[in-house]
Amino acid sequence: MDMLVVRGGRPLRGIVKVGGAKNAALPIMAAALVAEGTTVLHGVPDLVDVTTLSAVLRSLGAHVERRADGALQITVIDQQPCLADYELVRRMRASVCVLGPLLGRRRRACVSLPGGCNIGHRPIDLHLKGLRALGAEITIERGYVFARADRLRGADIYLGGSFGSTVTGTCNVMSAAIFAEGTTTISAAACEPEVVDLGNMLNAMGARIEGLGTPLLRIEGVSNLHSVEHTIIPDRIEAATLMVAAAITRGELTIENVCSAHLAAVTDVLRATGTEVHFSGSKSFVRSTAAPRPVDVTALPYPGVPTDVQAQLTALLALADGISVVTDKVFPDRFMHIPELMRLGANIRREGASAIISGTNRLSGTCVMASDLRASAALLLASLAAEGESVIRRVYHLDRGYEHLERKLNGVGGDIQRVADDPANMPDSLQLSADELSVPAIDSSDTPPPPKFLRRGESQRIHSHVD
Ligand code: EPZ
Repeated sequence: MDMLVVRGGRPLRGIVKVGGAKNAALPIMAAALVAEGTTVLHGVPDLVDVTTLSAVLRSLGAHVERRADGALQITVIDQQPCLADYELVRRMRASVCVLGPLLGRRRRACVSLPGGCNIGHRPIDLHLKGLRALGAEITIERGYVFARADRLRGADIYLGGSFGSTVTGTCNVMSAAIFAEGTTTISAAACEPEVVDLGNMLNAMGARIEGLGTPLLRIEGVSNLHSVEHTIIPDRIEAATLMVAAAITRGELTIENVCSAHLAAVTDVLRATGTEVHFSGSKSFVRSTAAPRPVDVTALPYPGVPTDVQAQLTALLALADGISVVTDKVFPDRFMHIPELMRLGANIRREGASAIISGTNRLSGTCVMASDLRASAALLLASLAAEGESVIRRVYHLDRGYEHLERKLNGVGGDIQRVADDPANMPDSLQLSADELSVPAIDSSDTPPPPKFLRRGESQRIHSHVD
């Protein structure tokens, strides 16, 4: 297991490039199961989650290989397998994305329920509601979803839940509905760019989906789809993370391979903090020279502020010159990063789905523990801004969703070392020194006499510090 040793307090300056979107690549890789032939995907990031899903696809009869030019090539060889095993799904809940493609193309699926997650409850009831509406028979036995459909029929489906739309739920239902006889409408569909990217690839394969990017999708069923070459959209969450990195270190970054339209909400928040943000084509210029101004932020489904950027913005606002309130309406419990940010000196109070942040003018390095993907990014950003050295443990969380993030940050002035998680690698500065450990002995000569108990009617002048 690795840990990151971070020497903070230095502004980041330079040019950094964003990779392909993890949350588009995963459902798109799963959707390659619906096509005949070989699907070629460009811009798939080199992530642990991509490796995990590749293993799931291989277990489902697909040949998956990374070409020398970096493209990911997926060829469906055997249409028989339909089991996505717990041992793989438990490593990445997004494996549930194979449910819709399997049901659509093979008319049966057996997918393990994903299980728990550090950012909150992750049900799939809406996924199952949509697939049942298309005619699937679905049962849940021994932790697995068993789905089968002799035929899929178009339906009018409302896919909204208590926390708004569902991203992978929309992906799953859309990937099955493209094979349903007749017309399907999906209202309260997710509008995230990653869902649009999947829909665009399915349409290139021969599907007939209208309304992508709006809450109302209209799908005409088809019987066969052919494979295509497709390029994954840029990762707006990585882009936002790098924008916050520039802001929190009071640096200046040119961030390449971004789509400004996908970053409108984050840009609005950063500008409200006083951070300069400009765009030119697929480049973003982000600069900060002072403490951020306090702002209130609410994470919402797209086009709102992404919940996947909430932790990073919380880290930035820990250094604001005032009080900010960050609320997450998508994952109300997504605050595991708060206790660790407080170890770095942040002053944050949790109130239900909100974090009340009293900004401080400095963070000081220490040892912290990552708990999930975006929390680990937030801790890394905070450590870059903190004085002195920090250590971030359990960085395997980071590797699930960021492609060599510390390498990218070191390329623009960061000082981050990846080392084995071993006490020998703990920086001396994080070891408490002897005199810090020796609590000064109380000198009995200047100890005030214990208070004497007053007898009824007696009085005692209270010693005042003000002479
Ligand atoms: C996707 O997760 C992303 N993952 C998440 O990114 C992202 O945080 C999330 O969308 C919200 O944008 C991938 O795309 C692989 P949801 P998903 O279904 O699809 C509730 C990251 O860090 N809900 O949109 O699982 C759910 O509990 C990851 O990259 C139901 O109630 O999220 C949540 O409160 C973390 N019933 C809300 O809806 C359902 O059937 C949104 O969930 C499904 C969801």
